[in-house]
Amino acid sequence: MTLVELEALQEQSLAELRAAPEAAGLEQVRVRYLGRNGLIPAMMKQLKDVPAAERPEFGRRANAWRTDLEAELTARQAAAAPREAVAPFDVTLPGRWHTLGTMHPVSRVIEEVCRVFARLGFTVADGPDIETRFNNFTALNTPAHHPSLDDTDTFWLGADQLLRTQTSPVQIRMMTSHPPPLRIVTPGRCYRRDTTDATHSANFHQIEGLYVDTKPVSLADLKATLACFARETMGPSVGVRFRPHFFPFTEPSVEVDFSCHVCGGTGCRVCKMSGWIEIAGAGMVDPRVYKHVGYDPEKVYGYAFGMGVERIAMIKYGITDIRHLYENDVRYLGQFA
Ligand code: DAH
Repeated sequence: MTLVELEALQEQSLAELRAAPEAAGLEQVRVRYLGRNGLIPAMMKQLKDVPAAERPEFGRRANAWRTDLEAELTARQAAAAPREAVAPFDVTLPGRWHTLGTMHPVSRVIEEVCRVFARLGFTVADGPDIETRFNNFTALNTPAHHPSLDDTDTFWLGADQLLRTQTSPVQIRMMTSHPPPLRIVTPGRCYRRDTTDATHSANFHQIEGLYVDTKPVSLADLKATLACFARETMGPSVGVRFRPHFFPFTEPSVEVDFSCHVCGGTGCRVCKMSGWIEIAGAGMVDPRVYKHVGYDPEKVYGYAFGMGVERIAMIKYGITDIRHLYENDVRYLGQFA
């Protein structure tokens, strides 16, 4: 075989390829030229019969031809391959529903409370669940002999570490790391060695509030802020009252009641006939707390408050047992969405 014959054959193969109808014709061309008994392998076997002077050039061209032909065939065959059949679509079938989750009532209350306070200029601050004795008790002016430090009340993790019993230690963290003014709310998980019953859980949530400034802040400001919060969450006709109380970290201290949203204040089962529902503890930050965080008690003024999230959720949604919030029955929890 000579170079001229090879060229003629190459021309012919390309012409056949171009003329080949789809799929089956292409396969014929492939078998004819590239198949095991095809023309190109046969020609390669006869390479030794090609005149010596032409042999290297012949080999090169034959190889190039094979490669080109293979590439061209593959491309044509791919283009000619039948499209995958699409199953007919039955438009009368009912659609697939996404099951959308709902927000847990505890998360909902946290979000709502934080949103109201955000409008009053409070930013959300965070702190760890594991606290130091100093942040959870000492700096909050709680003496070492106070019963809340007992093993029977607090989950101690060591002599100096514990699971925080309240969100108040975040006040300490924020004041030790920031100069006044500070206006924060801090939602979070708290832990106490309480026996679980309808209104107690060893694990619950609080939202703490703190406002400290270098200009005078009074108990009246605290009351106005909480009254605004009450109206935003309970509606315009809600009443707010302060009752004198004691907390180690505030002086004076108060307990804050909202008028009962169920009976409007006339007395019912929910408010135990009192017309009022206890919502928060609050007061003016005690000067000793300022000393612990390195503030000058002569130069700063401020108030703090703290409320139980589960308690608010229970009041708001009429939940009669705190355990319902933790049993993760989505049929139950979904109804408050
Ligand atoms: N930490 C208090 C508690 O767990 C709640 C509280 C009361 C927080 C008064 C405050 C406050 O910031 O001023 O019972």
